[in-house]
Parts: sequence; structure tokens; C-alpha cells
Amino acid sequence: MKTLIQNGTIVTAGETFEGDVLIDGEIIAAIGRDLPRDGAEVIDARGKHVLPGGIDVHVHLALPFGGTVSSDDFYTGHRAAAFGGTTTAIDFAMQAVGGTLSQALDTWHAKSDDKACIDFGYHAGITDLTDHVMEEIAELPRHGVASIKLFMAYKGVFQVDDATLFRAMERARDVGLLTMVHAENGDAIDILVRQAIEAGNLEPRYHALTRPAELEGEATGRAVAMAEVLDAPLYIVHLTNEHSLVRVQEARMRGSRVHAETCVQYLFFTKDDLARPDFEGAKWVCTPPFRTQKDRELLWNALRDDDLSIVSTDHCPFFFETQKTLGRERFDKIPNGIPAIEERLKVLHEFGVNRNRFDLNRFVALTSTNPAKLFGLEGRKGSIAPGYDADIAIWDMNREQTISAAGSHSNVDYNLWEGTRVRGVPQQVFVRGRLIVDGDRFLGEAGYGRYLHRSCRAPGRTAKARPAAESPLAALQA
Ligand code: URP
Ligand code: ZN
Ligand code: ZN
Repeated sequence: MKTLIQNGTIVTAGETFEGDVLIDGEIIAAIGRDLPRDGAEVIDARGKHVLPGGIDVHVHLALPFGGTVSSDDFYTGHRAAAFGGTTTAIDFAMQAVGGTLSQALDTWHAKSDDKACIDFGYHAGITDLTDHVMEEIAELPRHGVASIKLFMAYKGVFQVDDATLFRAMERARDVGLLTMVHAENGDAIDILVRQAIEAGNLEPRYHALTRPAELEGEATGRAVAMAEVLDAPLYIVHLTNEHSLVRVQEARMRGSRVHAETCVQYLFFTKDDLARPDFEGAKWVCTPPFRTQKDRELLWNALRDDDLSIVSTDHCPFFFETQKTLGRERFDKIPNGIPAIEERLKVLHEFGVNRNRFDLNRFVALTSTNPAKLFGLEGRKGSIAPGYDADIAIWDMNREQTISAAGSHSNVDYNLWEGTRVRGVPQQVFVRGRLIVDGDRFLGEAGYGRYLHRSCRAPGRTAKARPAAESPLAALQA
């Protein structure tokens, strides 16, 4: 089956131009002006923008966490993603303590394979680096897994020690994998949390107060130092603040193989949101916590300046009424995580592009092209080009929408952006040539989403060297 998307404004990370896109089966067959119809079904995209489908490299669907399970499964989460213009999501197959990586992959494939509606992949989440797991890391490329993830926080749950992180990073480097790190000093945070509880400081806002930005910065610096000693590729997940950012900026100026994402919510909220009355602040409890207005602005600038490479979501939703309330008596029992998979592109477009923080090409780079490049999907996804998968979102940049929980598709009962007005909405969304969202209609199908065998060519050096006088670390210390 062929589809011809005619007369749209095609946007990639590098170009914007008027033209047609011919889809043949699952693949983009041609791009040009006045392409012949050739029996294809025609979609008139005049006045619309034709963007590559978004790639969200950080999501947690059906994750057992905090005494409960994140409330979107692979069907509801992928459906929500599709309505937001995202066509690929990479999740985490988490190793159980005492378990193996291949067991983790089996467990997660059982959750995903007959529910997935968009294409998906897995990072291998390592919690217990046994000799067997060291061997398994070398087998990950065969399973299509191009990245491992370790946590420097969540003591007693996912946290690993420095020796584990160092050894895993070295092994990953040797087999061409990218190491992702949740960088917070979990030992120090654990003490701060206990002290807060003992002092009777139990409300949601203490979640932010017991996880200071300095401890995220310190852990980021530690992970960066290990990566530099090993000459290993490193990806810092969900970076939130200046202390962490300067470590990444410095590393990138040194030309290290260091990359980082922020998640869209960190561009919008602050720790004050956790102090909302009547336990409502629990809706904003995620880790790392929200920071300050100044940090938010620095993150926006870092996205523009290529100090941050990707905007993901860390989508990990929990119902307010039945799950967040597990922590009504004390903040450390509130399940950590927020929903954002559907909102990511819409709010980033409104407050990034419409408000002139960066242009539409940079928007595509941050949300689709860079994710594909860093996570082993280059040449297949992340752009609109002949031979690429026909993952396409046709955006109506004139259509306005008010974001609400009622109008969104995640399996959750609140929305952090409730009432926010955006101009620019994905209208039609294709995954590998199949139309799965058409306006308000979902045409996707459980099981259509395909597991992606990603290629393992971990990213190389950054080329950002700037004069020492411009050093952000020097500025911070001044
Ligand atoms: O609050 C969060 N981020 N929940 C998911 C787990 C993680 O740290 O990514
Ligand atoms: Zn994390
Ligand atoms: Zn996460």
C-alpha cells in the first residue's frame, strides 16, 4: 500500500522545505515536489508540517516501583504517546536482584510484545553485577539492546556502588554499548530522608528538600569522571539543575563522550509545586525532584546550545487517588514518577518553538533525530528521508488545544499541564506507514508495535571545545 503526503512543510533536524512524501509499505520511498500519485492514497498536507515521529528514550511502562506498578501498560502508554506525536519509545528491562539480564528481557517482552502499538526498544537496567551479568553484557547486542542503565540512587532498591558502575561502564564500552546513569548520591539522600522522617517532616515537599541539587551534581561529576578515565560513552538521564549541567558542559568542552537529557517536566515546574496544599504536591513527586526557576531557564538555554542533547519524559505515571496516596502519611512512600508521554512534544513545541527559545529544526533534533543517533536507530528512524521507516507526524500548527487529564490518553487521573493552552498539535500519526492516529481517532492496534533491534555503535566524542574563559564551571565558582 502506498500513501502520498502532498504539499506539506517537511521538517528535519537540518532543513525545512515544501514537498511531498511517498510512503511505500513501511518505508519512505521518495521525497520531492509534485511526486506522481502512482496509485497511492493521497493525504493533503497543505498548510501542515510534516515531522518525523518523536522518539522518547526514557519511559517506564508497567514498572513495579514504590510498592505499586506504574499505571500505563504498553497499550495505554503507547496510545498516549501516539496521540502526542511519538512513534518510538525505549523502556527499561530491569534486572531483578539475583536475576539475570535475559530473564529481565523475557519479563519485559511478556509485558510488551502483544500490547505495543508503536515501535519500542529496551535498555538493560542493571542492579546486580554478578560474573554472569558481566558476561551477559557482551550478549546484549545480539538481543538488540544498545544501552545499559545503572542507578546511583534508590538505596536498597536499584542503587549500585561505584565499583559496580565503573566495571559495568568499562564492559559496556568494550562491546559498544552506551551507559546511562541516574546520577544522585543515594547514600547521602538516604540519610537526609531518614532525618526528615525522624524530625516529623512528612509532607510531599520534603521529597525535594531531601534530594538537594548538589547531590545530583556530585553524582553527575562522579559518573563523568569514571567515563573520562575509561574513555567510555556516558548518558546522564533526567538532568535537572545547574550543578549537574556544569559537569556535563565541562566534559563536553573537554571532548569527552558525555551526553545528557533533560525531561520535559523539568522545564516547567519547581520544588514549590510539591508544596501545593491538601497532598496535591504528591502529583509532582518524581526523582530527581523539581528544582528552581533559575534551573529551569538554564535547562532551556542548554537545549538551545547543545549542552543537552535530548528531551525525553521519564514517563512513569501513578494515579493520584489510589497510588500517590500510599505516601499520604510520609513522603518517602509516595511512588516516584509523573505522566508526560503524550504532552512532551506539544508543550515543548509551545514553550520552545512558539516562544522563540529554539526553532523547529532544533525541536526535531531534540525529540527525534538525536535520540535515534545516540540510541542505535540512525538510518532507520529520527528523520524524513528515503529508506527510513515511515514514522511521521503531520502537525497542524494553527490548531489550539487546552491540555487536560480528561482529554489525554494515559491511564492516570491527573495532568501536570492541566489548563495549559498550546498552539500546534499532531493531527495524523503514522508508524511504519500505518496511520494510527487521525485527529481524535485511535486506529492503532495492540501488537503492531515492533521490537527494535538497535545497532551498537556507542556515540563518540563531542566537539564542543570552548575557551576556558567561557567555562560555566568557572562562572559557577566565581
Ligand atoms: O520518579 C521517577 N523518575 N521515577 C522513575 C524511576 C527513575 O528514576 O527514572
Ligand atoms: Zn531515574
Ligand atoms: Zn526513569
